[in-house]
Order: sequence, then structure tokens, then C-alpha cells
Amino acid sequence: MTVELHHDDFKEAVIGEESVDLILTDPPYGKKYMYLWEALGALSQRALKPGGWLITYAGQSHLDEEMASLGRWLSYYWTMSLHLKQGQQVYTLRVMWKPILVFFKPPKPRHGFIRDTIMGRGEDKRFHQWGQSTSELRPLIEAFSKEGDLVLDPMAGGGTTVQACLESGRNVIAYEINDRTFDRLKARVEGKIMALQSKLAAVPA
Ligand SMILES: C[S@@+](CC[C@H](N)C(=O)[O-])C[C@H]1O[C@@H](n2cnc3c(N)ncnc32)[C@H](O)[C@@H]1O
Repeated sequence: MTVELHHDDFKEAVIGEESVDLILTDPPYGKKYMYLWEALGALSQRALKPGGWLITYAGQSHLDEEMASLGRWLSYYWTMSLHLKQGQQVYTLRVMWKPILVFFKPPKPRHGFIRDTIMGRGEDKRFHQWGQSTSELRPLIEAFSKEGDLVLDPMAGGGTTVQACLESGRNVIAYEINDRTFDRLKARVEGKIMALQSKLAAVPA
């Protein structure tokens, strides 16, 4: 299993063309970040293998623009629903779900069985203010990739995707632009690798 962490802008990423099986990420959702969605589409088109998947958490307020940006580069497959445990207030709406968009690079691939509603156990803010939970990502990783595949998270934040990949035997490349966030991501991943290594060492030969 390999893990590559890059303290860098994913728009400058040097990633082998058509080398990635699954891109799994959670970009910022605000209006001022819409350019990142176009860049994410372009990167996915270039880096995904034919038949590779892009799965991304998405915001509701600019969902039309997010989908249009990705749709210029990839084919649309599905919108999964992440059921929010606590929900949150936006304007006068009590928001109880978050869209998770699934696109692919043709030809249309197959995936393993998965329900299109994921029951969230609550966000994990220990490593990032917008941190997600590994328990939500594991079923996605397991249905849309297989052991030994290469997963890319171009906007890794506190490293939820990286940790979920380590737990499920996927190779992973991650990019994070922010200095403090990258330091936290690196420390989390190093801790997880040490924990996995000591678990392996404890298994009798
Ligand atoms: C919503 S957060 C990701 C949170 C992550 N899913 C977690 O569970 O911790 C988005 C991250 O993308 C990073 N980011 C924004 N623009 C970027 C860029 N151009 N290249 C790399 N990372 C970027 C931000 O610094 C932020 O940490």
C-alpha cells in the first residue's frame, strides 16, 4: 500500500494521465470556490482511467453550478444522499441531507452493491473544521474501488479520505494547500500508519 501526501495546489498536480481508479473528495462549497469545481472536472478527466469514478461531497446552494462544471468533463451517474445525524439550519430550512455526486469517465463502469442513502454518524471535527467521518467514506470506497486500486483526494483537508483508504487497503494520493491543515493531515496519517504497523506486528506469524 502506498500513501503520497502533497502540500500543494491540486491544480499544479503532476499525476500520471489515466492512472487513478477513484477520485474521492470534499471541496469547499461557497460561491467564491466555484472555480475549484471546474478545475476538479479537468483534473478528473485527465487523471482518471477510462471507467474511473469521481465521487464528491457537494453543497446545496450552488449544486447547479457544481454539476454543470463536472458535467463538462465527465458523465453523470447518480446523486447519493448523506443523511445528517444532527442536521443544520440554513436560512429557514432544517437541512437533513447532503448530496454526494457520482460521475464517471466513460466507458460506464460497474460497481459493487451500495445503498444510495448513507446514514451519517456525525461529522468528525478533530482534524478539520469541515471534517467528514471515515465511516461514511468506507462504503463508498469499498463499492467503487477494489483493494490495491489508486484513490486520489485533491482537497484532502484533515485526511478523512486518506485514513479510510488506509483502513481499506487502497493506495492513496492526497493534496492539501493550507499549511496548518497539511501539518494536521500529515500527523494524522503518520499516527494511523504507526497504529496499523503495530497491529500487524502483534499478529503471530
Ligand atoms: C471541505 S475541506 C475537506 C475536508 C475533508 N474532507 C476532511 O474530512 O477533513 C476542503 C479542503 O480543500 C483544501 N483546498 C482548497 N483549495 C485547494 C487547492 N487548490 N489544492 C489543494 N487543496 C485545496 C482546503 O484547504 C480544505 O482543507
